[in-house]
Amino acid sequence: MKEIKKITCIGAGYVGGPTMSVIAQKNPNVIVTVVDLNQARIDAWNDADLENLPVYEPGLDAVVADARGRNLFFSTDVEKAIDEADMIFISVNTPTKTYGKGKGQAADLKYIELCARQIAAVAKSDKIVVEKSTLPVRTAAALKSILDNTGNGVNFHILSNPEFLAEGTAIVDLHNPDRVLIGGEDSAAIEALVQVYEAWVPRERILTTNLWSSELSKLVANAFLAQRVSSINAISELCEVTGANVDEVSRAIGYDSRIGSKFLKASVGFGGSCFQKDILNLVYIARSYGLTAVADYWEQVIILNDHQKARFAENIIQTMYNTVNGKNIAFLGWAFKKDTNDTRESAAIYVADHLLEEEAHIVVYDPKVPAEQIYKDLDYLGTRSSEDNRRLVTVVNDPYEALQGAHAVAILTEWDEFRTYDWAKIREEMKKPAFVFDGRKLLKRDQLTSIGFDYYAIGE
Ligand code: NAI
Repeated sequence: MKEIKKITCIGAGYVGGPTMSVIAQKNPNVIVTVVDLNQARIDAWNDADLENLPVYEPGLDAVVADARGRNLFFSTDVEKAIDEADMIFISVNTPTKTYGKGKGQAADLKYIELCARQIAAVAKSDKIVVEKSTLPVRTAAALKSILDNTGNGVNFHILSNPEFLAEGTAIVDLHNPDRVLIGGEDSAAIEALVQVYEAWVPRERILTTNLWSSELSKLVANAFLAQRVSSINAISELCEVTGANVDEVSRAIGYDSRIGSKFLKASVGFGGSCFQKDILNLVYIARSYGLTAVADYWEQVIILNDHQKARFAENIIQTMYNTVNGKNIAFLGWAFKKDTNDTRESAAIYVADHLLEEEAHIVVYDPKVPAEQIYKDLDYLGTRSSEDNRRLVTVVNDPYEALQGAHAVAILTEWDEFRTYDWAKIREEMKKPAFVFDGRKLLKRDQLTSIGFDYYAIGE
């Protein structure tokens, strides 16, 4: 088996950056180079001030500090990094297609194909190519065909090594993964990648499968996780009309060891770049094989999630006497979950859009998301002009400023710091009646109502 001395990763995003930082930290004898076309992103990864890394993840700064400049490098010189590597991870984005066949469902593989063509054009020695991006099942066959047909006659072995980290806990997840999954056909190539992970992951937690099981397992893992969220969210609505309490139901069912307690927290809905896109992709794949019942079954997870976001916004409007026109609604949180600066598919975007349609004035505070990102997310929807988004939405850096004079507070992200605020002082400075709509079930009902808030939480 060939010993891996140099690894290149194409794509310095939320997955490529943290994953390669940990691989480099744990394999000091392997040179790891992470490349990206985005110069600003690479500059941020190289910034002397670790506060400026492009990805916010607890503990990431320490890992980067350990390895950067020693055996971890960030660069825009993609060709050089491909040429020198023994093993190349592809960790580029695979968003939902926004055009043509499969629009709105299928994964857009144009970035993956570009990588494959570039690897084929540059490689002058044998390479192991690792799919780190989440891909539709059977993509490895397409990759192999491109590499073999456009390359310089060198050998390519393809492995699938999907990433199971969760944003917000990426470093803990990478340091101590439940499992590492490696799919492939060539046992020597599989073993080479096993050795990289064995530097810190116990061998029994490194699972090896065929390529297709590995590719499909990533889509299935995300579909199952999202399904749990939609399942409990469906029950939250039933709780609201029956007098049951969704937290109590979660606890009662979660104690059943066959069900388990994780991912049973009702909320305004799941977000993030992966759940929706990966389920849509699964639905598309099932449909393309003619499996209509299978496709419909999984699509319902998305339909329920959209319903939950709309329902949260509708409840705000109805409770506030059926009009939010001109009213100030303070948004606490914009990121799709706590401990990340990622806002992709965040529930906050859709709840805001719904309220803005009713001419609400929204003031947003998020500890890690800059104003420009918030406007970008709203502009991307294309519901109204960029000027209107700026007229109706204000972004502030101080939570108390957001809450000053607000008619209502909506909690969209479960940032811990929101619990520690002086809620009595906040109520004094808000318009009365002072409403709190807790989309994350973060605050305590008893505390808030005793202060005098009108408190609404999902599933109660
Ligand atoms: P991202 O958008 O943060 O990063 C992708 C990066 O690839 C971007 O910086 C982009 O400039 C770069 N890129 C695209 N084409 C390139 C090319 N031809 N050459 C060089 N650089 C190129 O995406 P993220 O979140 O890191 O996701 C990457 C993949 O990992 C996706 O397939 C995603 O589904 C998967 N994934 C994501 C997880 C997450 O929590 N974000 C978790 C597990 C898997």
